[in-house]
Amino acid sequence: MSWYSGLENIVERDIALSRLTTFRIGGHAGVLLVPEDVESFAAAYAAAKKAGVPVHILGWGSNILVADEGVPGVVISTRGLINRTLADDGQTIRVEAGASMREFVRWSARAGYSGIESLAGIPGSIGGAVVMNAGALGACLGDSVSAVWYVTEGGELVRRSGEDISWDYRETDIDGPVAAVEMELTRDEPDCVLDRMADALMARRSQQPVGIPSAGCFFRNPPGESAGRLIDEAGLKGMSVGGASISARHANFIVNQGGATAAHVCELGDIVRDRVRDCFGVELKNEVCVWPSAVA
Ligand code: EPU
Repeated sequence: MSWYSGLENIVERDIALSRLTTFRIGGHAGVLLVPEDVESFAAAYAAAKKAGVPVHILGWGSNILVADEGVPGVVISTRGLINRTLADDGQTIRVEAGASMREFVRWSARAGYSGIESLAGIPGSIGGAVVMNAGALGACLGDSVSAVWYVTEGGELVRRSGEDISWDYRETDIDGPVAAVEMELTRDEPDCVLDRMADALMARRSQQPVGIPSAGCFFRNPPGESAGRLIDEAGLKGMSVGGASISARHANFIVNQGGATAAHVCELGDIVRDRVRDCFGVELKNEVCVWPSAVA
């Protein structure tokens, strides 16, 4: 009997992760579980943990670089967790982890909820964006999260208040897979929110490559600096290794021009790190998560 017995209805086998990441790179997952509600998501996670199987949680795959060899153990996808409900207070919106960040931002603007419109265009799932405390234009998602529901290793769903979470630069201290999020947004005229959303989208589109596979900003911004500016000033725009290139539009984006492998991206990343260290004495750290991760 396998460790996922009882969960067979949500199992997919030998799935190419390149199809499930925005980089369009990565080997296979031997076992992919796609739960359709938060309870079965929690049960899947607990079963894998109980069996000692390495687990990777996959949202919309917009901030990961998957090794060409794939990942061991199991990948649990949140893509079936997409419900959204409005609480009785008319202000708190509970949204499940697999909902699209882009769609949620658009929906909230149209419905006259303000707070996250400057995050328009950020790809990925709500769960991933919360775990990474995604941000743009000086705002970050954590500012609008009133609570997070996450899963413990025992399969319990726990609610943690947003105020108790450390919302740091592209990281949080949430210690289990996120199943759902409660957002507290303020009311405003839909037209005003939509205008601000359009401005944010325009700013993003004018500065960042769109329509080419990538995982967004590849490196974290060093304190008080911009990784994109440093890479640009080091003269690296346009440099390629195999199918992976430094975007000519924004130097902190590594793009897949076609046929890039994880090995190409890693080699290019190493060149960038070395050159920026030599030129400016600054150590760049990855923003993109590399799979398999050390702690799985
Ligand atoms: N710059 C250059 N050359 C470049 C890119 C940028 O000189 O190739 C300069 C810009 O002119 C600007 C400065 O660097 O003066 C900062 O650039 P930008 O405004 O594009 O912001 P960023 O710091 O590179 C951050 C986030 C983005 C987010 C934007 C917009 C990080 C690592 N990046 O980029 O987030 O979209 O601000 O708010 O935090 C992501 O997290 O994946 C991401 C793309």
